[in-house]
Amino acid sequence: MTASAPPDGPVIELRGINKSFGPVQVLHDVAFSVHPGEVTALVGDNGAGKSTLVKCIGGIHPIDSGEYLFRKEPGGEPVPVHVGSPRAAAALGIEIVYQDLALCDNLDIVQNMFLGREEKSGIVLDEYEMERKAAETLAGLSVRTVKSVRQQVASLSGGQRQTVAIAKAVLWNSRVVILDEPTAALGVAQTQQVLELVRRLADKGLAVVLISHNMNDVFAVSDRIAALYLGQMAAQVKTCDVTHAQVVELITSGRSGDLGLAGTNGNGNGARA
Ligand SMILES: Nc1ncnc2c1ncn2[C@@H]1O[C@H](COP(=O)(O)OP(=O)(O)O)[C@@H](O)[C@H]1O
Ligand SMILES: [Mg+2]
Repeated sequence: MTASAPPDGPVIELRGINKSFGPVQVLHDVAFSVHPGEVTALVGDNGAGKSTLVKCIGGIHPIDSGEYLFRKEPGGEPVPVHVGSPRAAAALGIEIVYQDLALCDNLDIVQNMFLGREEKSGIVLDEYEMERKAAETLAGLSVRTVKSVRQQVASLSGGQRQTVAIAKAVLWNSRVVILDEPTAALGVAQTQQVLELVRRLADKGLAVVLISHNMNDVFAVSDRIAALYLGQMAAQVKTCDVTHAQVVELITSGRSGDLGLAGTNGNGNGARA
């Protein structure tokens, strides 16, 4: 019993993940854990491997080697899983909102939220039921900026589109929601709305991963920060234990003081100081 993981331990735990595309190794021995009720910010320079890592989690890219553990129920033991497709990830309750939002401009909010899911749910939902569920989900996330769920997505602002994509991700009892740069294209007010939504998801008990370049966003909403440097996990730390400057150093050089990768030029293994 004493050796077992705490009930509030990570829902996803990756160890020693390696991933190459042909001759190019993009992820090196990566460890990464995602906790329920928390926002974990995944940071790193362009090309550091952030999107690749979340695509491995989401079953888009197969991992070459390493352990992928998933805690199927709170308080349960983490078990090794093979996530070989987005469908397998969705079955575990893992949803990813990708950088280029997969929303259809010519459809309305309800149609977008249920797109491609009719089959998976196994039953045919009628329009009324879908509309009710879409509205309920948005209301449950305290989204008040969307006037009608029958609005065409083409008519929405960037922030509203991001909101719809996030609501779509949480529609199906998801436990882990991963957002790849959700605020990259947004203005100040819309960014604020999306960050508030991100925080609410975690406060509802979901495990949220937020990929972001923006240190203000990261420090505004995250509980933990994981910094990738050239495909290695430089450090995964609690946000309250680090400063902006330290995180910037981890991003740009893989280390900061005694935090980060061993060795003078980032050639060591990831180590948490
Ligand atoms: N499908 C792919 N095929 C080949 N190389 C890829 C592929 N996806 C990503 N890469 C490479 O992997 C590296 C990491 O990319 P990525 O994960 O998108 O970084 P980030 O999201 O941190 O900017 C880059 O060098 C990129 O060119
Ligand atoms: Mg990316």
